[in-house]
Amino acid sequence: MKKVIAITRGDGCGPEVVNEGIKILKIVSEFTDYDFEFKDAPAGGEVWKEFGTNLPEKSFETIRNSDALLFGALGLPDLPPGVAESAILKIRQGLDLYVNLRPVKLYNVLRENCPLKDEFIGDGIDIVFIRENTEGLYKNIGKLEEDSAENLMLYTREGCERIIKFAFDYAVRKGYKKVTSVDKANILKTSQLWRKIFHEISENFSAIETEDIYIDAFCQWLIREPSKFQTVVTENMFGDIISDEGAFLIGSLGMGSSGNIHPGKVSMYEPIHGSAPDIAGKGIANPIGTILSVKLMFEESFNSSEIGNDIDTAVEEALLEGRTTDIKNDSLKTLTTTEMGDLISIKLKNKLKE
Ligand code: NAI
Ligand code: MG
Repeated sequence: MKKVIAITRGDGCGPEVVNEGIKILKIVSEFTDYDFEFKDAPAGGEVWKEFGTNLPEKSFETIRNSDALLFGALGLPDLPPGVAESAILKIRQGLDLYVNLRPVKLYNVLRENCPLKDEFIGDGIDIVFIRENTEGLYKNIGKLEEDSAENLMLYTREGCERIIKFAFDYAVRKGYKKVTSVDKANILKTSQLWRKIFHEISENFSAIETEDIYIDAFCQWLIREPSKFQTVVTENMFGDIISDEGAFLIGSLGMGSSGNIHPGKVSMYEPIHGSAPDIAGKGIANPIGTILSVKLMFEESFNSSEIGNDIDTAVEEALLEGRTTDIKNDSLKTLTTTEMGDLISIKLKNKLKE
């Protein structure tokens, strides 16, 4: 099975973690029928400095003609905010990637790295955030004037329907029993439309329990009782914020993975962290967020949940033996980015050989 994978390494620690993601893809191609061709699609701050654009036309073409995109992170501290990063929005809008899928699962072996007290962790954390990724405030409709500024928070029925449907289908596919919708329907008109559509769609999924929670209350429940949530669907900006809060519950921002998805079309897989200028170039970035994004690529773009599961198990097994500094454990070896990727590769090889 031949697949073309576009690669955007990006800035800062992006290239370091993407290398480890590629390593995993190469292991899969060595032991299965997959055959990957990697095509560079440079984007971001370094590219902007060289070419005056953060997403050269040629890169976007490469991405558009690939089977999936593996993406690092963009952003340089010596550039104004957004100069590098807006390439991400161009890709999301350009490919109509309306789903931002962000699973947050706390591995048992990382329980002591979770910032919550053990009693709050309860039965464990296994939440999938499904964030609307193309409408709302991030559509970037508005204006900035000398003494005022405005952003339009626009939602359409079609935009709400497709993401909420995706969330219910996802819950069914993954065996989750509950879908939580997060909104601010007591204040926002967009949320009133959202909530109405959420209830309409939920009627087609009678086996799934549903609940609505206001965004502010949700933020405290996520810390107070995270085991209460399974699939969480929400609009763009709320999703951006709560999924970062959620990601830290699994031990480190470096563990968070994501897929920017349009089912059946080219989709983009990236760790949720940024370019981490404070640790870039030191070889200590945690590559697991990127490796788990590769797992999502197999599950969502290539329909291979078995390989996804193997990657997941390989990561969990590797964490019993060694860790990068952000999730370090004094009784285990401290590993560099490359060593962590190598250890996961060994575990994955053993799984795929079985
Ligand atoms: P950041 O995620 O880069 O870093 C926040 C903290 O987490 C830092 O202390 C960093 O060292 C740590 N961290 C991040 N990734 C890590 C990893 N893999 N392993 C271990 N520790 C890790 O967020 P920050 O500092 O707010 O942003 C830096 C730049 O990245 C900015 O230019 C920002 O705009 C950009 N950014 C880009 C994103 C993207 O490309 N999708 C997402 C978020 C931020
Ligand atoms: Mg974010």
